[in-house]
Amino acid sequence: MIKISPSILSADFARLGYEIESVKSADYLHLDVMDGVFVPNITIGLPVLESIRKVTDMPLDVHLMITSPSRYTARFAKAGADIVVFHVEAETRENIFLAIEELHDLGKKAGLSIKPDTPVTALQPYIEMLDLILVMTVEPGYGGQKFIAATLPKISGLRRMIGERLLSCELEVDGGINPETAGLCVGAGANVLVAGKDIFQSPDRAKRIAELRGVCKS
Ligand code: DX5
Ligand code: ZN
Repeated sequence: MIKISPSILSADFARLGYEIESVKSADYLHLDVMDGVFVPNITIGLPVLESIRKVTDMPLDVHLMITSPSRYTARFAKAGADIVVFHVEAETRENIFLAIEELHDLGKKAGLSIKPDTPVTALQPYIEMLDLILVMTVEPGYGGQKFIAATLPKISGLRRMIGERLLSCELEVDGGINPETAGLCVGAGANVLVAGKDIFQSPDRAKRIAELRGVCKS
């Protein structure tokens, strides 16, 4: 089954409770944490996550776009994240292993993300331990960018790697997702679709979530 994770980066932060309510038919809620160093933009952090945790039961899919993320992975987990996803490019091998183990010890799911130019081989050492892999289909930093089709072979490569190892790891895509690009990603093997602009700009968000979930492989 295809899962949808609306990214609140495109929501109206002044009305966040209402915005979250409007996408509650989705499977996850995607929170983009940016530090202005790993990516040029600055967004939200722990206090916002804590407030969101109090108003929704949706599984919180927290995407850390920060330097040395292992400093913060456990804190985001304790603040209410259900899945903590961080970037393989931002951390050392040793700290990646430690952070994944720490998240599992806290009873949380651990995910790793790769930027569009990072090869899938960067994930190989960790793949057996991961609950989720996030393939960035735009350069991380901003919502509303154009989907990079050159990332599609990485999605199919990872789906093959997951299948060969008989893993239950989810395969998520993030950036420029709309019904057309969703079809391409699902066709390549993605099973979790993050969408910001496409959902929050839609006049009927529940309908849009259902449409994205129902995309056919193209
Ligand atoms: C970008 C973020 C995305 C962003 C996606 O760095 O990781 O989650 O919100 O936005 P759209 O779906 O508008 O491309
Ligand atoms: Zn994201």
